[in-house]
Amino acid sequence: MKILLLGAGGFVGSHLVEHLIARGQHDVVGVDVAEDKLEGIAGPRFSFHVADIRCNPELIDRLIRDADLVVDLVAYANPSMYVSAPLEVFDLNFIQNLEIARRCMAHRRRLIQYSSAEIYGKAGTGAVCHEDTTDSVLGAVGKHRWIYATGKLLLERVLHAHGAAGDLEYTIVRPFNFLGSRIDYLVPAGAMGGPRVFPHFISALLSGGPIRLVNGGHVHRTFLHIEDANQAFQTLLDHPAETRNQIFNIGNPDNNVTIRDLAALMVQLYEELTGEPPVSRVEHVEGERFYGPGYEDGDRLPPDISKLTRLGWRPRYDLVTTLRETMQAYLESGAKTAPAEPNMTAVHSAPA
Ligand SMILES: NC(=O)c1ccc[n+]([C@@H]2O[C@H](COP(=O)([O-])OP(=O)(O)OC[C@H]3O[C@@H](n4cnc5c(N)ncnc54)[C@H](O)[C@@H]3O)[C@@H](O)[C@H]2O)c1
Repeated sequence: MKILLLGAGGFVGSHLVEHLIARGQHDVVGVDVAEDKLEGIAGPRFSFHVADIRCNPELIDRLIRDADLVVDLVAYANPSMYVSAPLEVFDLNFIQNLEIARRCMAHRRRLIQYSSAEIYGKAGTGAVCHEDTTDSVLGAVGKHRWIYATGKLLLERVLHAHGAAGDLEYTIVRPFNFLGSRIDYLVPAGAMGGPRVFPHFISALLSGGPIRLVNGGHVHRTFLHIEDANQAFQTLLDHPAETRNQIFNIGNPDNNVTIRDLAALMVQLYEELTGEPPVSRVEHVEGERFYGPGYEDGDRLPPDISKLTRLGWRPRYDLVTTLRETMQAYLESGAKTAPAEPNMTAVHSAPA
């Protein structure tokens, strides 16, 4: 089978490329505007195009036509951008991704679309988030942070409607906070805004800067080892009939933790891994000060993963192992952050 991975140069994409190369069963074609995370990752059945999906319609159309399966990972997944550039987030995460789905329909190609656990929004009722029964509870329109979730949710609804009309064969993935090497990018000590929580905390530990807890760090998240995420993807590949036109949570409900406890655990693991206590201290910061006006957060329930475990997948890595292995990868790579910024200006970067 020939698999086209759009967004192959990102965190999830680069790990999927490694996984697929190691399995050696498929031809893999990657597309991304960035290729630095693919450094050193190569194989005879892997080819890569540095290309922007927005600017190369003929190339993307040809690659979709020539593929058996399209995996769409392209998105802005940077919380600062949700409030600072909501229209760019909507354009890439909804309009451009819809265009990919339309090309899949035109060529009758199967699509695996990466959506997000964010579509559940603020924790609703119930004990867990179930793919087919849990409501989405998103914040007020003026709280632009929710444009990411809104765009992802609308895309899911459109794919679902096309599937019901018989136009499209799709599978939707809702990741619940994957963790592993190459996630986002490191930020200078004291930086505000920018990437997701783990890169912030590991940056702080590496640089000796403050570990900033947004709004007290009271919200819960579950974290999944990237290797478990790869195996979940493999389960989708291995069960095309059962996963056809279905939505799957991919996460580890047992690795549920508040962000405050995540910070404490990372401090503890840093000391265990380096033999020295970190210089970094925990500091509290308001969400809108850290990310910008329009930011809001919500608690999240753990995922119900029974749909995928019924197909044989089961997460293997507990929270401590997931964090330890991810932190170890950063410590071993000698990753460095830039020195402290005196006025702590917002740092956010499009993943280009
Ligand atoms: N990692 C997680 O835990 C998580 C959680 C929820 C949702 N997701 C979703 O999974 C997918 C992959 O996430 P990730 O963590 O790898 O994010 P990522 O930012 O590392 O990867 C996205 C990739 O898309 C690429 N890209 C952006 N614009 C592009 C364009 N115009 N043309 C071509 N490539 C472009 C980026 O360069 C980047 O490499 C995304 O859709 C994200 O929303 C991931």
